[in-house]
Amino acid sequence: MSNSSFPGGSQLSSSNPILAGNQVIHKSDLMKQVMRMVDRVAPSNASVLILGESGTGKELLAHAIHSKSQRRDKPFVAINCGALREALLESELFGHEKGAFTGAYSRKIGLAEAASGGTLFLDEIGELSPGMQAKLLRFIQEGEIYRVGGKEPIQVDIRLVSATNRELDAEVMKGTFREDLYYRINTITVHSPPLRRRKEDIPLLVNHFLSKNTSRVLNRGRSMSEEAMQALLKYDWPGNIRELQNLCERLQILADGEIIQASDLPDSILSPEARYSMDEYDPSMTLHELEKRHIIKALNYFEGNKTQAANALGITIKTLYNKLHEYGEFEKFAIHSKPKKA
Ligand SMILES: Nc1ncnc2c1ncn2[C@@H]1O[C@H](COP(=O)(O)OP(=O)(O)OP(=O)(O)O)[C@@H](O)[C@H]1O
Ligand SMILES: [Mg+2]
Repeated sequence: MSNSSFPGGSQLSSSNPILAGNQVIHKSDLMKQVMRMVDRVAPSNASVLILGESGTGKELLAHAIHSKSQRRDKPFVAINCGALREALLESELFGHEKGAFTGAYSRKIGLAEAASGGTLFLDEIGELSPGMQAKLLRFIQEGEIYRVGGKEPIQVDIRLVSATNRELDAEVMKGTFREDLYYRINTITVHSPPLRRRKEDIPLLVNHFLSKNTSRVLNRGRSMSEEAMQALLKYDWPGNIRELQNLCERLQILADGEIIQASDLPDSILSPEARYSMDEYDPSMTLHELEKRHIIKALNYFEGNKTQAANALGITIKTLYNKLHEYGEFEKFAIHSKPKKA
C-alpha cells in the first residue's frame, strides 16, 4: 500500500491521505446502483461484506460506508488480514499485555480496540487462517476481545466491514472458510463491479486522476486526446481502477505535452492480445500436447479437410498425416471431406 500505514499493513483513516474525504467517482448506472446500496446499508449497524476483483475500489466503498454512518466521527480502522502471519495478526488486531511474548515490553492496544465506536475494516478476509477465523468469530459473537496474554475480556463496540477478492461462498463449500463466520460477516453483500462492466466511468475517472497532481507537474498530461480515450475505452482493465490510476500517474510524468496522445500509451493497452497470450500459459501443458490440440482444433475447424487444415497450419499435408499417425488420430480424420466454405 502506498499510503502511510502502521507496520503490517494496518492503518487508521485519519493518517491516510488517500482515503481522507475521498469520493467514489462514478456515472454508470451500475455504480449508481452500488452507491444506492451503500447509502441504504451505511446507517445500519449491519456487517457488510464487499466482494470484487482487485483494484475495483473495495476499500474506498468500505470507507464510504463508514463516512455515511452515524459512526463517521469515530475511527475507521483498516487491517489487511493477508499481510501478516497468524501470531502477528492476532496481536495487531487484539493487542497484547506486557510480557505476553518475547519482545512484548509494554501493553499494546490492538486495532479492534482502537476502532471502538467506529468501523473495523478487515481487508482480504478470505486469507484468514482457521485459528484466526475462530478468534474473530468469538469476538463478533461476544463483542469482546482478549489481548494476547490477557485474562480479562474487554468490551469493544465496532461495526464490521470486510472485503475479499476471493469467492468466499466457494471457500465455504470447500471447507477453507467457516460457514458460521461467513454468515456473521455477511449480513449484507455489496458487489464492487470490475471496470470493464462500467466503462462509462472511465472518462470521469481519468479526469479525476489527471487533475489530482497538477501542482507537482508543470502543465503536462492534463487531458486525454479523443483517440487516446478511445483506446482506454476499448481496453478491458484486468487491474481495474488501480491500473487506470497508475497509468494516469505514469502518463502525467511521461507525456510530452499537455494533451496525452494515443502514441503515449503503452503497447499493453494498445494491443492487449500480446498480454492475453501470456496470461493463458498453462504450466502443465507440454509443447507436444499443445501442438496436438492445435492440430486437432484446426481439423475440426475445417470439418476434417486436411488440405485446408495443413495450409492454415503452415505445414505440408504429408507432415499433417505423419502427425496424425503419431497421435493415433489418423483413423478419425481418414474420411475425405469437402472444403469448409468461407
Ligand atoms: N470510483 C472511484 N473513484 C475514485 N477513485 C477510485 C475509485 N475506485 C477506486 N479508486 C482508487 O483506486 C485505487 C484502488 O482502490 P481500492 O484500494 O479501494 O481497491 P480494492 O478493491 O481495495 O483493491 P485491492 O483488492 O487491490 O485491495 C485507490 O487508490 C482508490 O482510491
Ligand atoms: Mg483493498
